[in-house]
Amino acid sequence: MHGSVAEAILREHLVSGEMRPGEEIAIRIDHTLTQDATGTLAYLQFEALGLEGIRNELALSYVDHNMLQTGFENADDHRFLQSAAAKFGVQFSRPGNGICHQVHLERFAAPGKTLLGSDSHTPTAGGMGMLAIGAGGLDVAMAMAGEPFRFAMPSVVGVRLTGSLRAWVSAKDIILELLRRLGVRGGRGQLFEYTGAGAAALSVPERATITNMGAELGATTSLFPSDRETLRYLEAQGRENVWRTMAAESDAAYDAEVAIELDQLGPMVARPHSPDNVVSVVEVAGTPIEQVAIGSCTNSSYHDLAIAAKILEGHTVHPSVSLVITPGSRQAFLMAERDGVIATFLRAGARILESACGPCIGMGQAPASGSASLRSFNRNFAGRSGTADGKVYLASPEVCAASALTGRISDPRDLPLPYPIIAAIPAAYLVDDSQILAPASGAKVEIVRGPNIAPLPVFGPLPDRLIGAIVLKLGDDISTDDIMPAGARILPLRSNIPALAAFAFSRVDPTFPERAQQQVGSFIVAGNNYGQGSSREHAAIVLRYLGVRAVVAKSFARIHAANLVNFGILPLTFADETDYAPLLQGDMLEVSSVVEQLEGAEALLLSNVTRGTQIRLHHQLTVRQREIVFAGGLLNHARLAMGRSAPVGLLSPTQ
Ligand code: F3S
Repeated sequence: MHGSVAEAILREHLVSGEMRPGEEIAIRIDHTLTQDATGTLAYLQFEALGLEGIRNELALSYVDHNMLQTGFENADDHRFLQSAAAKFGVQFSRPGNGICHQVHLERFAAPGKTLLGSDSHTPTAGGMGMLAIGAGGLDVAMAMAGEPFRFAMPSVVGVRLTGSLRAWVSAKDIILELLRRLGVRGGRGQLFEYTGAGAAALSVPERATITNMGAELGATTSLFPSDRETLRYLEAQGRENVWRTMAAESDAAYDAEVAIELDQLGPMVARPHSPDNVVSVVEVAGTPIEQVAIGSCTNSSYHDLAIAAKILEGHTVHPSVSLVITPGSRQAFLMAERDGVIATFLRAGARILESACGPCIGMGQAPASGSASLRSFNRNFAGRSGTADGKVYLASPEVCAASALTGRISDPRDLPLPYPIIAAIPAAYLVDDSQILAPASGAKVEIVRGPNIAPLPVFGPLPDRLIGAIVLKLGDDISTDDIMPAGARILPLRSNIPALAAFAFSRVDPTFPERAQQQVGSFIVAGNNYGQGSSREHAAIVLRYLGVRAVVAKSFARIHAANLVNFGILPLTFADETDYAPLLQGDMLEVSSVVEQLEGAEALLLSNVTRGTQIRLHHQLTVRQREIVFAGGLLNHARLAMGRSAPVGLLSPTQ
């Protein structure tokens, strides 16, 4: 890899490490962002570090996930977040101002800078030529404390886009094509950098759709160059002062290359229940649908809304379809209202929701039992919609809008509809930052805590002998939604770990929390890509709270493996994957002399006490990560490094 945009940004921000794929590097973080579902914990953790305020250049706290206020919990969290932001020097984007990634792209993202966000779709800002990475909330808290972010240097894949998109084919279809080819594990350990004339022709919102959904490849991040198109977007936002050109060198070489001929693409659809289950729309055309949802951080820009409205103009949605619209930001909403886009939606029979994640995180609008929902979103894991047997399909806003008219998944090219032509970028976006609150300067601010905000659990150091049962054996591609479900009922408990823990794996095995708590130190065994999807660190912290000490898997998703380490859980992989099958739920396992084994060779011996066998496991922990696990987690480690004692808080019942 040489001469790429990624290399230039990483080199400019490199604090330590060699930029060789797989090696740990540490980079300086310019911007941070949190959202409310991960933010409450992040600010509790930041508070536990004992600092007066943030030490990075710019920190944003967005409220976009837990929006329904059916009880006091979410409102309490919003109030807590607002007061914590004011106290620590963080800008606060109020509820209703929009989805974190859309708002950050519009109002804050800057080419050549770095962004760390406690949300897996943080790479959205890569559409602006920003190196933007998703991480757990504790890693973001550390970045706010001015600490560098450490991660494995990814290999840089050049994705060469040639030609141009045909009518009815959009940016969503480019990333769906990549998911079709590479799958949800295909991007692990990789950074995707888009190049070529086809990339240069895409607008920033189109680029952001692609970098957003690069998260579904399992990629570390995705990135576009910063060019005249980027400048055009920034000028329209009144922020041209942050523009700088970020271009790959003429002789740039990538670790791997992928080519996509845009003229060859047609509209695509991801079928249930995985974003990589992608086929041409032709293959699923005719499938009856009862819901269409247009929005989410993938496809909710003003352009996405306007194009969908143009398709619906003069028509009403099919009687079997409930069409719901979530504008990605207040800016997009205001412009859609001003330009008659909202009125067109309403006349067509759409239901307009506030600017937020909404149905994407199961916060309302769960589809009817057994029905199919077609969404312009990025994830379609089973149950994420809030309906256990709901079937979610993913597609572009164009396919979604056309299908809303027919009541079936439809290829818009087959319908008697004129192709909607909407300018990719308006001459000027409507700018109104009144719902982004600056932190209090100089004033003494008290953090306001409601009863839903429980103290942080405190975890003890790793014992030198781990012994416990396999409390759960799982297959491949277990997502953090499987581990710690979201939705309107469970999300309000995100700042209350003891209450939240009762729902761990509730869709997979509702008996899990009780069984895990009966053990003192237990194991989970899983297949490939354990922990894919959302960055939520709750999927690690609740397991640690319930006494899980190690996860043995064929492989891990990047963010979740880091989160396990951050909360003192060992992520271990099989040296020989054939050892996976003989391990059975309930088997007693033991790893002795843990410290010595982790510090020695890469392989550890694990004894299956029940069966009298031994197998070899690997770990990929750096020296620092080992220290973190030994200390019982990153918070303990950081406080000890700062000369403070371990944090005071709620004791885990199984510590
Ligand atoms: Fe929100 Fe869904 Fe994006 S939950 S941040 S809109 S993936």
